[in-house]
Order: sequence, then structure tokens, then C-alpha cells
Amino acid sequence: MYKIGLIPGDGIGPEVTREAMKVFGAAAEQAGIQYETVEYDVGGDRYLATGEVLPDSVLEELRGLDAIYLGAIGHPDVKPGILEKGILLKVRFELDLYINLRPVKLYPGVPTPLKDKGPEEIDFIIVRENTEGLYAGIANVLTYAHDLWRRVFDEVGEDYPDIKKEYAFVDATTMWMVKNPEWFDVIVTCNMFGDIITDLGAMIQGGMGVAASGNLNPESVAMFEPIHGSAPRYTGKNQINPIAAIGAAGMMLDHLGYAEAATKVEKSISDLLASGKIKDLGAGRMGYTTEEVGDLVAEGL
Ligand code: IPM
Ligand code: MN
Repeated sequence: MYKIGLIPGDGIGPEVTREAMKVFGAAAEQAGIQYETVEYDVGGDRYLATGEVLPDSVLEELRGLDAIYLGAIGHPDVKPGILEKGILLKVRFELDLYINLRPVKLYPGVPTPLKDKGPEEIDFIIVRENTEGLYAGIANVLTYAHDLWRRVFDEVGEDYPDIKKEYAFVDATTMWMVKNPEWFDVIVTCNMFGDIITDLGAMIQGGMGVAASGNLNPESVAMFEPIHGSAPRYTGKNQINPIAAIGAAGMMLDHLGYAEAATKVEKSISDLLASGKIKDLGAGRMGYTTEEVGDLVAEGL
């Protein structure tokens, strides 16, 4: 019996979490996966009511789970940074989730702003270092941090002679992601650059509504989340696109060892997008409610 922690969080977080777990549940049932969920009430409302951000007791409980699912964090009445640092970054740092895996995949039928590029060209994974760099908030002792990256990349790379490797600067990378996205299969990068280029990646794969991610460490409990934020102005409107959130739940299935169930979720998303039913992936413009999109993906499994 797997134990999965849910942090629906703020804004549209609870809505997308509901749809993600609806699809997770349907896929789990098909695959015979037994699980239970524990919901944690952390986020802006709790902070405003009690002053608590992420109590230590919750953090301790999270350590014992099989996986964590997070909707979104960020509240318009709370000074920016408090919740993001106190919850999202705290879980990443305290559980040492040093890998943030962010696929950039354009599904067939999804419009991209890139001219003459399609699913063949836009299909890669960004591996974002998740606990260091400017995010660590202390003067980095590794003055030659980027030299270290380059040395480790070369050293580890020697063991994989079949993989073509290149070192690129981040400014040029943003240019190539737009001009020649087909060049990339995997990008490995530091925390800050990874944050920036994964928003660009989300845009070229059809927008924030479709970009999923996983925070990983092979020796710790992993946390899955859409890369978008809490979009406060859409709260409770049943208008936000849950596909990114559902994609993150699919990644969670894969992580738990159910590759086939994960592929089904991915295929159902892909089939739905290819069907052209959803006219626009933006919140409020989908022609369907958040809940209906969740139903369509669940039915398509
Ligand atoms: C993300 C977000 C976070 C980050 C913020 C909310 C701290 O932008 O998950 O990409 O910068 O990592
Ligand atoms: Mn970001």
C-alpha cells in the first residue's frame, strides 16, 4: 500500500490536484495499484490564519511517504517569497530533492509559437539542479561553480562515449531552444538557469497548461508538481487547464514503478490534445471546465 502525500496548496492548486488525482486513481485502479492519500493543509490560508508555514511535524511526516503531490503555492495576500521559500523550496531542500526533471514535449495538435517546428523537433528533457546555486541563499563557496559543472560533466561523460555531449552557455541555449529545439534531447543545468529555461520550454510546448515536473532523489521521497503557479485570479472558477498537473501525476506513476500506467496517462493526454477538442489551452478558453478535461483524460485511459 503506497502512501501519497497531497499538498493542494493555494489558488488553483486544489482544483488541478483533484483532476490529477482523479486520473492517477483511474490509472491505479486499472493497474491494480493500492494506495492511500494523506492531505496536508499548508499554504497561504493556513499561514494567514495561524502564522505557520510548514510545521516541522509535517516535514517529518513527508519524509516517510512514498511520494508527494503538490498543486501550487503562492497567495496574493502573502508577501512573495514567504510561502515559496517556506514550503516549496523547503521541501525540495530538506528532502534533498536535488533533481528537478522537466520534460519539454510538444504533443501533436498543440500549437507552438515556433514557426516550422512540430512534435518531432520539440521533444527533450531539462534536468535542473534543484537545491543549490543562487537558490541556496548563501555566498556560494564554489567560486568556480560553473567550472566545477564543466569538469564533472566531462568526467562523468567519459563513461558514456556513445552520447554526444556539448557544453553551452545559457544565453545561447535560449536562442537555440527557439531556433533549433530539435538539437536537444537532454539539457542538464543549474537551479537558476533551469528555472528560467523551463518557462521558455513550457511556452514552446504549448504553454504553462501542459508543463509537468518531478523533484527527485533516488534515496528520498519524490515530489511531483505542474511547473505553473497558483494563478490566484482563476481560483475556484473551474477554468484552469489541469493537463500539466495530470502529466505530473503520470510522472509519479512512472516513479513508483508503473511505467505502463504512466504511458497510458501520457497517451490519453496526447490523444485528447491531438483530437482537437480543446480549442485553446489557456485558462478560461478551453471550451471545457477543469473538471471536464480531467474526465476526458480519465476516460481516455
Ligand atoms: C518553479 C517556481 C519556483 C522556483 C518558485 C515558486 C520558487 O518558479 O518551480 O519553477 O523558482 O523554483
Ligand atoms: Mn519557475
